[in-house]
Amino acid sequence: MRTIEIRSGLPVESICPVHLGPDAPGRLVQDLARAGYGRTVLISDSNVAPLHADQLTAAAAAAGVQTDLLTFPAGERFKTRETKADIEDRLANLKVGRDGAIVALGGGVTGDLAGFVAATWSRGIPVYQVPTSLLAMADAAIGGKTALDLPGAKNRIGAFHTPEGVYIDPSYLKTLPADRFTSGLAEVVKYGVIADPGILSVLEERFQAVREPDSPVLLDLLVSCVRIKAAVVQEDPLEAGRRAVLNFGHTVAHALEAVSGYDIDHGEAVAVGMVVEGRLAADITGFPGEELERLEQCLVHAGLPVKLPQGFDPAEILEAAGADKKNREGRIRCALPVRLGEMIPGPDPTVAVNLPSLRAALAAD
Ligand SMILES: NC(=O)c1ccc[n+]([C@@H]2O[C@H](COP(=O)([O-])OP(=O)(O)OC[C@H]3O[C@@H](n4cnc5c(N)ncnc54)[C@H](O)[C@@H]3O)[C@@H](O)[C@H]2O)c1
Repeated sequence: MRTIEIRSGLPVESICPVHLGPDAPGRLVQDLARAGYGRTVLISDSNVAPLHADQLTAAAAAAGVQTDLLTFPAGERFKTRETKADIEDRLANLKVGRDGAIVALGGGVTGDLAGFVAATWSRGIPVYQVPTSLLAMADAAIGGKTALDLPGAKNRIGAFHTPEGVYIDPSYLKTLPADRFTSGLAEVVKYGVIADPGILSVLEERFQAVREPDSPVLLDLLVSCVRIKAAVVQEDPLEAGRRAVLNFGHTVAHALEAVSGYDIDHGEAVAVGMVVEGRLAADITGFPGEELERLEQCLVHAGLPVKLPQGFDPAEILEAAGADKKNREGRIRCALPVRLGEMIPGPDPTVAVNLPSLRAALAAD
């Protein structure tokens, strides 16, 4: 098992260990047993719970840790205040107090929702993240951000709540639908662009092995992604500046998602967003044309789209991009690479983008 430690200043100086490998769930159980919580609640969605909750519950019971399972309907449209309130009612029925703890078993939706419940229950109880989707393993479970969506405003409500630990066992991916795996690869490609082109080489040269949940190649790839996110989060835990590098491709992606009514898949939106923002980078930062080409090829190779889906109106996308959280003084801002593995340097990796440039980048083929 590999372990990476993330220092966090939130809310007090703390260290969040991220354990990666098939022994990770076993390590979770040991950590729970050692902590001796009054009540341990496993929160999972309606897809993941029937597949994986029993095994974790049984392992915990064998170590003397009794758990209660709370499930909610799977999907982004349930990452809401209503679901949070329902879970809170059930926590109250279970009489979970300040000596309780939550284990989030699932994809990024479960991690965000259960993490936010933990952040506010009794003014904050410990949360343990057990990601089961590729996106959550490579990205969402790391960094202590938790959130809920409002209608039309993704992640509008939330809190920073550093987990006690993150436990990544890639074998959970055996049951992840193939299209979800492909979607998660978009964030993996993102890490290749923002920090380590070696990740792109692995996707280009070892793609079959990457798709094997038990392969050391996939584990190494996850270790690389976690290390990059850990370094960024440590540098900027409260998202005051540098953390915006993680948003490469996401200004356009979030606009696409908003215009589609959150119908388009997030990974597909990020893939297209990276290509469009890569074109902007070619104009603005001198991002080399051959590297943009490599990024596109890598996405295609991974099974991700590189063109705007049919029927999307660039004017609507421009308007939606105007609502991005990175914007300042009414101007759209994007975090852009200068070359593969290197983003705009300094505390602020974003630049203002004028509308004609963004319109042209959206329209280019
Ligand atoms: N907090 C952060 O820093 C952060 C970062 C990136 C994304 N996110 C959030 O993550 C969410 C997207 O994450 P996601 O793609 O994992 O979504 P998700 O949690 O909805 O999971 C995708 C689908 O896969 C299913 N699933 C997950 N693991 C499975 C498994 N092992 N076997 C079978 N089915 C499985 C889920 O039930 C769901 O249907 C978004 O809400 C996004 O805002 C958060």
